[in-house]
Amino acid sequence: MRLVLLGPPGAGKGTQARRLSGLLGVPHISTGDMLRLAIAQGTDVGRAVREFVESGRLVPDELMEEIVRIRLRQPDTGSGFILDGYPRTLRQAETLDRILTEDGRRLDRVVLFRVDLNVLVDRLSGRLVCPTCGANYHRKFHPPKDDLRCDRDGTPLVQRADDRPETIRSRLAGYAAQMEPVADYYRRRSLLLEVDAGDAPDAVTDRILRGLGIDSDRPFDEVRRA
Ligand code: AP5
Repeated sequence: MRLVLLGPPGAGKGTQARRLSGLLGVPHISTGDMLRLAIAQGTDVGRAVREFVESGRLVPDELMEEIVRIRLRQPDTGSGFILDGYPRTLRQAETLDRILTEDGRRLDRVVLFRVDLNVLVDRLSGRLVCPTCGANYHRKFHPPKDDLRCDRDGTPLVQRADDRPETIRSRLAGYAAQMEPVADYYRRRSLLLEVDAGDAPDAVTDRILRGLGIDSDRPFDEVRRA
């Protein structure tokens, strides 16, 4: 299964990608996670992208192409992948097709998350992440067991640099204009599955699985644990 997840910041792409990855047995490839890791490690790429990521602006297409091309050619993508955060522009969508075609592959489906603006702001402003293991929490919807510490390793949780109120506003403002041409591109190829992602995570997972034609009855407990 080669899947792309599209949707605005805070739509729950990362949350659902982790669940689907556990269920389908294919890697979750998040361009945002890859960029944040490069920044944290202080690599050349990290230094080049830091300002873009922390201010919520898109990293230039040429740099993203290199990053995605290298990652999609890793052996673990042989049985498929869930790509989260790429493509974000029409040019990136065309580039992704080209990369896959060069390797004799193609996408199976593209899932577009639809969520109301107010819900997105709530989700982003309450998000907390673990700087050690990357686990994702939410002050209200998915709070840690121990006050503001990661359930897995006890590290104090932090807010992402791009989840500050002024950055949230600019990320959301740029989204629609960039994404509608991408959605159209996949709609014309009959690959697009549009999903109402405004409900609780279990309901959204169920909706995606049904939309993909995957029988969700048996593996649903496994999905929840992922
Ligand atoms: P990226 O990391 O991809 O950020 P994003 O697309 O803005 O998406 P988010 O990670 O903010 O949200 P999400 O949809 O994954 O939601 P999540 O599951 O965390 O990119 C960051 C930056 O990197 C970009 O701004 C850009 O600078 C750069 N970049 C990345 N890719 C690029 C590209 N292709 N080209 C150029 N630049 C690129 O959920 C959010 C919160 O809500 C969490 O707290 C979660 O617990 C909670 N939640 C999730 N689902 C639900 C639910 N159903 N109900 C209640 N709460 C929920």
